[in-house]
Amino acid sequence: MTARLDGPLKVTGQAKYGADNNVPGTVYGYLVLSTIAHGEIESMDVTAAKSAPGVLGVYTPFDKLELNTPTSMLGETWVPLQDREVTYYGQPIGFVVAETFEQARDAAALVRTGYQARPGKTSFEAGLAEAEPAPGREDLEILDEESGVASIAEAFEASPVVVEQTYSTATQNHAAMEPHSAVAVWEGDELTLYTPNQGSHLLAADMAAALGVDASKVHVVNPYVGGAFGGKGKTSTPAFLASAASRALGRPVKATLTREQVFTATAGRAATQQRVALGADRDGNLIAVRHDSWCTTDAARSFVEPTSHGTSLEWYATPNLAVSQRIVPLNVPPTTFMRAPGEAPGSFALESAIDELAVELGMDPIELRKRNNSTAPPGKDLQWSSKHLDECFDLGAQRFGWANRTPQGRTEGDWQVGMGVAVAMFPALRFPATVGIQLRADETAVVSTSGADPGTGLLTVMRHIGAESLDLPEDRITPQLGDSALPPGGLSGGSTATASVGTAIQLAGTAAVDELTALASGPGAPFAGKDVTYAHGELFADGESITFGELLRALGRDSVSVTGTSQPGEELTKHSFSSFGAQFVEVKVHRWTRETRVSRMLGVFDCGRIINEKLATSQLQGGMIWGISAALHEAVEVEGNGRLANGDFASYLLPVNADIPEVDVEFVKYPDTLHNSVGAKGLGEIGTVGVAAAVANAVHNATGIRVRHIPITIEDLL
Ligand code: MOS
Repeated sequence: MTARLDGPLKVTGQAKYGADNNVPGTVYGYLVLSTIAHGEIESMDVTAAKSAPGVLGVYTPFDKLELNTPTSMLGETWVPLQDREVTYYGQPIGFVVAETFEQARDAAALVRTGYQARPGKTSFEAGLAEAEPAPGREDLEILDEESGVASIAEAFEASPVVVEQTYSTATQNHAAMEPHSAVAVWEGDELTLYTPNQGSHLLAADMAAALGVDASKVHVVNPYVGGAFGGKGKTSTPAFLASAASRALGRPVKATLTREQVFTATAGRAATQQRVALGADRDGNLIAVRHDSWCTTDAARSFVEPTSHGTSLEWYATPNLAVSQRIVPLNVPPTTFMRAPGEAPGSFALESAIDELAVELGMDPIELRKRNNSTAPPGKDLQWSSKHLDECFDLGAQRFGWANRTPQGRTEGDWQVGMGVAVAMFPALRFPATVGIQLRADETAVVSTSGADPGTGLLTVMRHIGAESLDLPEDRITPQLGDSALPPGGLSGGSTATASVGTAIQLAGTAAVDELTALASGPGAPFAGKDVTYAHGELFADGESITFGELLRALGRDSVSVTGTSQPGEELTKHSFSSFGAQFVEVKVHRWTRETRVSRMLGVFDCGRIINEKLATSQLQGGMIWGISAALHEAVEVEGNGRLANGDFASYLLPVNADIPEVDVEFVKYPDTLHNSVGAKGLGEIGTVGVAAAVANAVHNATGIRVRHIPITIEDLL
């Protein structure tokens, strides 16, 4: 298995991340953040800050950097300092630029802000009473026509067994290793911006719109990104402010968020509350499913965490179904996409409820899931293009020793041991992408697209599919990524990059071969007028062959370039698409301390064709560890005044190596060419889906205690 191409560069410190770029003459920007949750800024006294050593500029809503609000495929992006409204504690309200980082930071501390404070809403529980409809997420009801039920309530009345419970999940922070940063360098009217993101061409378009310049004038560079998963989807505050301040000052500006600032000046995952009702017959066949969800959002209502729509609307076959989604706007930091938005917290509720139903029925939880396996999303005619979820469970059960599980768990010395399972699903999607291939006279090829590799392994995958498409060894392929000057690639988000970019590489590969054979048979070419074929880097005609490098040299050319563009198309009218998986978790709960340790875990996944098993495995392991983190560790705590009580790495709990067991990953490998010609379905996000429920289900198996919120703490198990 090919190792990650950029691995050695990353572990030896040679990979240059955004803030590693040092340009002569660089000055430093530091954010000023609000210290109230809600209100209006009445005054900002910047006199002391402006006269502090080294200070070049102090920007506030009273003396602002002009920026427009851009809109991308991810929606509107909030732009800092444009008005005096404060809607959460820790909101960027000022930007100080100085000759050194320390001078900027010290001067930022001298800014005195006066507020007209208004009462802030920071409690999710209190806000539930004023929940609002979720934009873009309609209430949906599917009723079984055959049985003639008139309402979902009637369907539940007709169900011999009903479980109904409320589950909740905590707010989580995007704590990627690389904090958000930007280095902005203007040369004349052109901006080069080094900043981590999930799609350099999208960020360039955002910045151009914000700055009011032509997109061709903005060059975004991000060859390496230290983690993203939704947290770097939208253009960040440092990118906006560094670019605008650099233009105003005529100096390169570097701005890096501190870890504490990452907790509020970016965005995280919403907290959710979910009411799930399941109605079934005594054999475990679902009759009715109802899933009502509430999620927190910021005052601008900028994001909905779609838990009901992400799970119950898709996962199980049920004749009657009702889902709803509400939002609870609060004076808290913004919410946004985070690894499996919707499915991650949604699966905690749905898959806990399924486990509760299994207990109620006295049925094996895998058996119950298999019984309600769907061949299409409920109420839809379009069948899954490929689904091997049952096989994931069969394989997993055998490998994990599921047969040894008893309904009461078991004990091992002072430990209560239990096993739990859950389904993992995440839609298989694709976005538009363009890839360029340049064949060079030195017998090598460059495969390039703008996008980003936020640690997923996309660069390595591009080289593999490039080599395959051009029928060349991998060592003759140079992949390029993370530069908005390259052909507009996909977004590294939505678990789409391999399917989107891979398909475009294949199309570009075909175009490259067509171009070569046309060149070889053209007038004045070595095989003029002949029938030319291509294989493994060579062109053939009449029993003779030349390499493509020889051809280009014979024609006096250094290279030949083509592009391939792919986008979702007709397949969407024919099938439904999803990746699937089965999560197995074993926990040990200590009899006296009540601490929960995950002792074993296994995920078996159906993600179509696996391009590189080593990278795919590590991607899924990362997701599964994220799931443990959600189940047992992570929770942003908001104080009454809106300040985050644990907005730093000293107090925000994350798992460390000692918390994580061997994480076993297995695949069933069925290429899904109905979805795209590469046959790959997404696997970036699905690893985290279902894990928290599997942990909670295992805790119940071990202890008999059902915990309906995450993270599960010692106090829950006393
Ligand atoms: Mo992902 S949450 O689509 O980066």
